[in-house]
Amino acid sequence: MNLKRFPRHQLTFGPTPIQPLKRLSAHLGGKVDLYAKREDCNSGLAFGGNKTRKLEYIIPDALAQGCDTLVSIGGIQSNQTRQVAAVAAHLGLKCVLVQEDWVNYSDAVYDRVGNIQMSRIMGADVRLVSDGFDIGIRKSWEEAMESVRQAGGKPYPIPAGCSEHPLGGLGFVGFAEEVRAQEAELGFKFDYVVVCSVTGSTQAGMVVGFAADGRANRVIGIDASAKPAQTRAQILRIARNTAHLVDLGRDITDEDVVLDTRYGGPEYGLPSEETLEAIRMSAKLEGMMTDPVYEGKSMQGMIDLVRRGEFPEGSKVLYAHLGGAPALSAYSFLFRNG
Ligand SMILES: Cc1ncc(COP(=O)(O)O)c(C=O)c1O
Repeated sequence: MNLKRFPRHQLTFGPTPIQPLKRLSAHLGGKVDLYAKREDCNSGLAFGGNKTRKLEYIIPDALAQGCDTLVSIGGIQSNQTRQVAAVAAHLGLKCVLVQEDWVNYSDAVYDRVGNIQMSRIMGADVRLVSDGFDIGIRKSWEEAMESVRQAGGKPYPIPAGCSEHPLGGLGFVGFAEEVRAQEAELGFKFDYVVVCSVTGSTQAGMVVGFAADGRANRVIGIDASAKPAQTRAQILRIARNTAHLVDLGRDITDEDVVLDTRYGGPEYGLPSEETLEAIRMSAKLEGMMTDPVYEGKSMQGMIDLVRRGEFPEGSKVLYAHLGGAPALSAYSFLFRNG
């Protein structure tokens, strides 16, 4: 496998820390050891997160093409668009963000706090559009690209979650390599990695990275899109393309992609009671913040898998914390009593 031949523009602090979740593990019976790898603290660029790692492999292409405006898309409280805005500010580029009505939720200041607030403060041109949830390529986004061209700029497209970008899977191939190096230092290997999936390139990159040492199907994706067939197809497609790019030496098969579909409901962006319980539990026991859209659902999934005994006793499980807590203030009503 060869990741090194792709240029990487450093936007993160470096390898992310792995922490034991001792109190959470003990609370859940102490038979499984839980750890977290903190992608949510990976950068000083507006709090970072999984997209910042992906962008490290995308930005060299934008710079090589001489683009002056990053154009991206997401929901109103998108973490992706906030991270693109931060990277644009950091590099002295302009930024246009299409923010759609992906989530069936409204808090008093849903479109003014959290991620979207930070994107505006960082100088991005934020455009609110009333289209619903879809992880594919959108008309509104193509219109945004065209508007930059009309104004004499050179736009660089960064699709939802970086996932349709041909280089979008590379960052999390690097995540797997980083885990292997950390395992060598820790003196043990993780039996499972738990990761939240929506647009797919995070899990796809991990699947390829861990396929290199025969652990692709130890990456347990927790669907948070509530449209798991679409997410699963996207993970498989991106993993196949990425495997080809890095010369993995074998094809990625359907069996390599594990996506647990039990925790995505009631719908994208809306937490269940169990999601809220998981958010409160990891916050109260570990001081670790997760959000109702993404990591709360993967946390809920991991907790449930432990409670059901689906991880064999003695397993070491690595929770990939991908970020997302900046959206919490947009869900203030849900947590008005803690
Ligand atoms: C905090 C957070 N977690 C998980 C995900 C899911 O990652 P992916 O879209 O690569 O599947 C996202 C983005 O969609 C995210 O912002």
